[in-house]
Amino acid sequence: MHNMDLPTVDASQPKAIRMAGSPMLENESGPEDEQPFLSITDIMLILGILLAMMFVYVRSRMRREAAPAPKSYSIQPTSFAVAPSSENSFIKKLKTSGRSLVVFYGSQTGTAEEFAGRLAKEGIRYKMKGMVADPEECNMEELVHLKTIPNSLAVFCLATYGEGDPTDNAMEFIDWLKNGDADLTELNYAVFGLGNKTYEHYNEVGIYVDHRLEQLGATRVFELGLGDDDANIEDDFITWKDKFWPAVCEFFGIEGAGEDVSIRQYKLTEHVDMPAERIYTGEFARLHSFKNQRPPYDAKNPFLAPVIVNRELHGPTSERSCMHIEFYIEDSKIRYDAGDHLAVYPVNNAKLVNKIGEQCGANLDIVFTLTNTDEESTKKHPFPCPCTYRTALTYYLDITSNPRTHILKELAEYATDPADKEKLKLMASTTAEGKAAYQQWIIQENRNIVHILEDIPSLKPPLDHLCEILPRLQCRYYSISSSPKLHPTTIHITAVVVEYKTPTGRINRGVTTSWLKEKHPSDPPCLVPIFLRKSQFRLPTRPNIPIIMVGPGTGLAPFRGFIQERDFARKEGKEVGDTILYFGCRKSQEDFLYRDELEEYVKNGTLTLHTAFSREQSHKVYVTHLLEKNKEEIWHVIGEQNGHIYVCGDARNMARDVHNILLKVVMERGNMSELDAANYIKKMESQKRYSSDVWS
Ligand SMILES: Cc1cc2nc3c(=O)[nH]c(=O)nc-3n(C[C@H](O)[C@H](O)[C@H](O)COP(=O)(O)OP(=O)(O)OC[C@H]3O[C@@H](n4cnc5c(N)ncnc54)[C@H](O)[C@@H]3O)c2cc1C
Ligand SMILES: NC(=O)c1ccc[n+]([C@@H]2O[C@H](COP(=O)([O-])OP(=O)(O)OC[C@H]3O[C@@H](n4cnc5c(N)ncnc54)[C@H](OP(=O)(O)O)[C@@H]3O)[C@@H](O)[C@H]2O)c1
Ligand SMILES: Cc1cc2nc3c(=O)[nH]c(=O)nc-3n(C[C@H](O)[C@H](O)[C@H](O)COP(=O)(O)O)c2cc1C
Repeated sequence: MHNMDLPTVDASQPKAIRMAGSPMLENESGPEDEQPFLSITDIMLILGILLAMMFVYVRSRMRREAAPAPKSYSIQPTSFAVAPSSENSFIKKLKTSGRSLVVFYGSQTGTAEEFAGRLAKEGIRYKMKGMVADPEECNMEELVHLKTIPNSLAVFCLATYGEGDPTDNAMEFIDWLKNGDADLTELNYAVFGLGNKTYEHYNEVGIYVDHRLEQLGATRVFELGLGDDDANIEDDFITWKDKFWPAVCEFFGIEGAGEDVSIRQYKLTEHVDMPAERIYTGEFARLHSFKNQRPPYDAKNPFLAPVIVNRELHGPTSERSCMHIEFYIEDSKIRYDAGDHLAVYPVNNAKLVNKIGEQCGANLDIVFTLTNTDEESTKKHPFPCPCTYRTALTYYLDITSNPRTHILKELAEYATDPADKEKLKLMASTTAEGKAAYQQWIIQENRNIVHILEDIPSLKPPLDHLCEILPRLQCRYYSISSSPKLHPTTIHITAVVVEYKTPTGRINRGVTTSWLKEKHPSDPPCLVPIFLRKSQFRLPTRPNIPIIMVGPGTGLAPFRGFIQERDFARKEGKEVGDTILYFGCRKSQEDFLYRDELEEYVKNGTLTLHTAFSREQSHKVYVTHLLEKNKEEIWHVIGEQNGHIYVCGDARNMARDVHNILLKVVMERGNMSELDAANYIKKMESQKRYSSDVWS
């Protein structure tokens, strides 16, 4: 038995299952005078079907592989299935189910998908039966025919990532819009973009699609909505949505809205005698995939990696904790490069899960299935079913982020105290008072579902409804902090533990980092579900090109891999250009990550190190202050030697400050106007000489 809080069902696999009409197995005997089991026509038919299946499979693989990799980030989509071509006609689905509204989503971590679902569900109130659709699973060229459905409307909820890039599942659609010239006259549409103002390319995808659809002749039914995840994206969405529906009604001449009733999307079945081997215990797609591990490993089929090192990087006086973790990947066939990201699937804290069970007065060990009542939907279940409530709350559902307003609205129904019901309804409403209450009680006071159930004792929702409305638990990404040249059989990450006190006096712990903190080398080993995401954060192909790396705090992570690689090349006798690191932390004795290693690289001539200790003097000293002072060195590397500059870590302030300093350097040292300097930097970005790997 492995040491993990991962699924442990001991299922014996069926040995050989023979379907009616399938060929007999070699050692099975049949009457000697029987006719041959398969005729030539049967064999030809089977071969034909196999070839067609191979064609569909290879084509979908090629499409995925041909899609450009995201630029400086990488997040996996939440929906993975690629529908067979016969099922990707959204027009056919709309027509056969009598719908006129289709809401497409471009989503990596689920928000846009959730918004799309809410819009599609609400359509019924306005006599527009709606359907959610993943552009990756649809033939988007059919948009030209949507006008054949009377009073039809296409809505697009699209998130932006990286350098203004679409999400993986919207990539092909955006390429089609960019490169094609489809005639979209009479297509009615609206766009809601999801972004974050701390990123340079704010909401670029939503803005582009809104503009491009109009360019191609489509009719904008309501103005572009922009959600800012740095502020309150829920507020942005409900504010937009509140004006969107009246505009839609006016456009289509729909009179009055129907009743605002909560409609369940999934039907509950509780199982009494379900055999254990048929129950999901945390797998993401294939039943028993954790017991019978098979490469290739990806988001649907993560590798259970043994933890072989988990070491504290902070000094004893630090109030925080930062972990250096090594995962053993020898048997996984996972190949990585320095700069790639590692995705980790977390597991929710058992105490929080139990609290939900207690507050709801429910038995967490009941086995259940939620089945979509919409038979046209490609999403049959909200998460792998059947499973127990405990499994759903532990592995599949997000129980620690702040619930969105639609969750409060659905929960209000179950509060037995009228005052509690009113409070929940108010926070879910779009009135100024309601928004302020939501902002204060949920966002500012930082309440998750467990806190809400604790603080509203009369609220006891049925667990199946709660499981239906909670969002999916997402994997977390970490910049890999090792080089495969030095560590081909292990992947290292550098993760700071999230822990903070909320205004209600509770201690909140980051789901993944607090779970990882308990994973130590042991026999049997602690196993962590991981998969690799390629990035474009890459060293120059030739090691003689000089590089500057700016990475305060955990922003150092990918640079540890870069430095290992340059040191390795130097020791192999290759000519290696200047390798310059700007690292910043609070105090040299507390959070100077990998200090010994870095000092050793300085000593052996691999590295030039600039350090900024922000809290060792009365005023702040940041890496950006050092960059300001070293403009000459920066220009020497990027302007005179065609070198590369890399930034990693905080997206909110640091990355933007570095960008501005770079602009100044190019203007001052390169004697350029602001416009020319900005173009120079854009060119550096497109040549991959200026790359960032940032998060907030
Ligand atoms: C491309 C990429 C690379 C990354 N690389 C790294 C890396 O190398 N190392 C690393 O440590 N992290 C990295 N991260 C961040 C990492 O993915 C996780 O977000 C982080 O570890 C927290 O995850 P968690 O599950 O422990 O916390 P969660 O349960 O997700 O909690 C985090 C949330 O808690 C809230 N929060 C956090 N602190 C506070 C506070 N003080 N007050 C109020 N609310 C707060 C915020 O809403 C935050 O989003 C990276 C992220 C991305 C997108
Ligand atoms: N979403 C999450 O849960 C999550 C989890 C982990 C990390 N992060 C983010 O990841 C980033 C790195 O985290 P970390 O804990 O490793 O770093 P950190 O220890 O908070 O910061 C590293 C150093 O950078 C300094 N700094 C602060 N603002 C700066 C700026 N504008 N320019 C340059 N330096 C600046 C800090 O100084 P002072 O602190 O003294 O000001 C500190 O010395 C942060 O943005 C953090 O918010 C997010
Ligand atoms: C690594 C990373 C990169 C991002 N890059 C951008 C960006 O370039 N521009 C932007 O407006 N928002 C950016 N965002 C914010 C997301 O678009 C925003 O959080 C959105 O709500 C995510 O939607 P999703 O959950 O459907 O994927 C980024 C977020 C992350 C985590």
